[in-house]
Amino acid sequence: MRWGVFSDVHSNCEALNAVLERFRAEKVGGYVCCGDITGYGAEPDKAIATISALPNVIAVRGNHDLAVLGRMDITWFNEMAAAAVRYAQKSIQPENMRWLQDLPPRVDRDELTLVHGSPRNPAEEYLVTVQQFHDNYQYFKVSPCFIGHSHLPLCFLMKEPVSYVEFGTLKEAAVVRTPRGVRSVINPGSVGQPRDHDHRASCGIYDDEARVFNLVRIEYDVAEAQRKILDAGLPEFLALRLAYGQ
Ligand SMILES: [Fe+2]
Ligand SMILES: [Fe+2]
Repeated sequence: MRWGVFSDVHSNCEALNAVLERFRAEKVGGYVCCGDITGYGAEPDKAIATISALPNVIAVRGNHDLAVLGRMDITWFNEMAAAAVRYAQKSIQPENMRWLQDLPPRVDRDELTLVHGSPRNPAEEYLVTVQQFHDNYQYFKVSPCFIGHSHLPLCFLMKEPVSYVEFGTLKEAAVVRTPRGVRSVINPGSVGQPRDHDHRASCGIYDDEARVFNLVRIEYDVAEAQRKILDAGLPEFLALRLAYGQ
C-alpha cells in the first residue's frame, strides 16, 4: 500500500490542503502523521478536524500538541511559540481537543514505526546526527521509522547488523530505498513550516511493498496562510518566516 507521510502541519491549512490534494491524486491508501499538528499557525482546530477525518490515518502527538493540551511545560518555548499555544488552547473545539488528547507518543506496526522526535525520546529529541541515529538504534524494531520535529527532510540508512550509516538531507523528488535488512529513519520535512530555506510544503509517499519513499515538495498559497496568521493576532514573524522556509 502507498502511504501519504507528513509532519509538522502547525495549523497551516493552506499547506495541509495542498498536500492532501496531492496525496489523493496519487491514490494513497493511508496517511502517516508524525505530530505537531497544532502550534504556530492560524487554524489549529481546522487542522485537527481535517486530519482526524482522513481514512486510515495513523498519527502521533508532538511537543506542540502536548503543550496545547497543557501536558508540557512551555517555559522553554520562545514567546512566539508560547503565544501560538495559548491561541490554540482558545480555538480548538472540545471534540478535536479530545482527539488530540488520545494520540499516542509512538506507533509500532508491522510495516513501519512512527514517532515525533526520536524513538528514545518521542516528545523532545531532534534526531539530526549519525551519532543520534546510533543511540536510537535499539529503541525501534521495524523500519522505516518515520519522524518529524526538526522540520528538515532527511534520512538515515544502515545495513544490519551495525555498519556504516548513510545519511542525507532530502531534496524534491529524492528517492529513498529501504529494503529488508536495512534500518532506516526518514523525516518527510514540515508541511506547515519548512525550515530548509524552501518555502514549499514538504511531505512524502511511502510504498510499503516496494519499500520506497519519495520526497515531494508542493507549492501552496503562502500569502493566504500569512494573512490568516496576522488576522488572528499572532506574532508577525510567524507569518514572515513562511515565505523564506525558515
Ligand atoms: Fe514542529
Ligand atoms: Fe516538534
